[in-house]
Amino acid sequence: MSKYDICIVGGGGHVGLPLGLSFADKGMNVCLYDNSKERMEIIGKGTMPFIEYESEPILEKVLKNKKLVVSSDINSVSEARYVVIAIGTPVDEYLNPKTRDFLNLFSQLKKYLNKDQIIIIRSTVYPHTCQQMIRILGEGEGWHIAYCPERIVQGYAIKELRELPQIIAGMTEKALEKAVELFSNISPKIIKTSIEEAELVKLFSNAWRYIQFAATNQFYMIAHKYGVNYDKVRNAMMEGYGRTATLPSAGFAAGPCLLKDTMQLAAFHDNNFQLGHAAMMINEGLPGFIVEDLRRRYDFSKINIGILGMAFKADIDDIRDSLSFKLGKILRFYGTNVYYSDEYAKNATFISKEELIKLSDVIIVGVPHSQYRGLAIPAEKEVVDLWGIIKN
Ligand SMILES: NC(=O)c1ccc[n+]([C@@H]2O[C@H](COP(=O)([O-])OP(=O)(O)OC[C@H]3O[C@@H](n4cnc5c(N)ncnc54)[C@H](O)[C@@H]3O)[C@@H](O)[C@H]2O)c1
Repeated sequence: MSKYDICIVGGGGHVGLPLGLSFADKGMNVCLYDNSKERMEIIGKGTMPFIEYESEPILEKVLKNKKLVVSSDINSVSEARYVVIAIGTPVDEYLNPKTRDFLNLFSQLKKYLNKDQIIIIRSTVYPHTCQQMIRILGEGEGWHIAYCPERIVQGYAIKELRELPQIIAGMTEKALEKAVELFSNISPKIIKTSIEEAELVKLFSNAWRYIQFAATNQFYMIAHKYGVNYDKVRNAMMEGYGRTATLPSAGFAAGPCLLKDTMQLAAFHDNNFQLGHAAMMINEGLPGFIVEDLRRRYDFSKINIGILGMAFKADIDDIRDSLSFKLGKILRFYGTNVYYSDEYAKNATFISKEELIKLSDVIIVGVPHSQYRGLAIPAEKEVVDLWGIIKN
């Protein structure tokens, strides 16, 4: 009899933690294992290490009723029926997938795993990774591995885990059946696919979102250069016209997933993913476009510029791969004085939004946190607000 129903490797992360909370909240015995001792200590004391809406009361409850325990001891992995892998799967500085780290984890975990366990891959993986894992685990057949990709939007995992259908693929019949049994505890619907289909479902979904953001960002650049307000164009496009109803607003498409997964797909397809690469050039080029536009109109040695919002997404505190920092870097390169502010992310150099507004001649919205909605900014200051959160 196993001590835990589930052990989540990477259990202190943005994917592993809310997933563990959701299972524990359903009465399952969950162990969060993470090699970050610091994170485990914070979580063990009942504090969320990052913003995840609706999670704090659940964390308090499941620690109290002992349905959730935290661990930095790798031995915990051998004490669970299900082992869920939720560590990061980044690309390197040349945008190549860093599959080695993920596979190394399996070399490390190997002696703590056994063939009675169901191993579930939750991280977004480069295609063929599951087959590579079997090779690393070795000792012939008999490992039960399922790929069950996470599809939540960061910050809202608790809500979305209750609402989103779960894609499940198994490398064996037993893995499939047991993974379905597990996720039926929290997911409203299960969609069964092959491993290859599941790998592409995840990568295509993120690439699709990234390309949609690129399309709207390119439209913004065209409209802006033409002297036309893109928000008005977009609203007119969408009003009563269902075929354009999903056009997102312009803005920074950043964070640790969308670009990374688009590049994983490009690498998988022999770097022959023109649409993905074009999307990257547009989305990553947006901060430069904004700076060039301002440089045409201002002497950068004479003005101060403030960036409102440093997180990569509205109403969360995560700054991973946020384009606000890239924007700040380009502005500083041209010699202007730059101020940063954020409502959630903490940094000793950030100032309050009120101070930033007072000190800056130009204010650029980096991310549309709710607190910026309708913010009063003196008329003599220019506001660059792609989301239209201040003006609308
Ligand atoms: N963040 C999201 O919204 C999101 C959504 C869907 C899918 N994903 C995918 O899920 C995966 C995890 O992303 P994340 O945002 O949760 O990353 P994260 O960095 O927030 O969490 C990863 C956790 O794994 C831990 N870890 C790393 N190496 C470890 C090891 N060897 N042993 C034990 N613990 C280890 C880290 O300490 C960290 O707590 C990635 O593949 C990502 O692409 C993320």
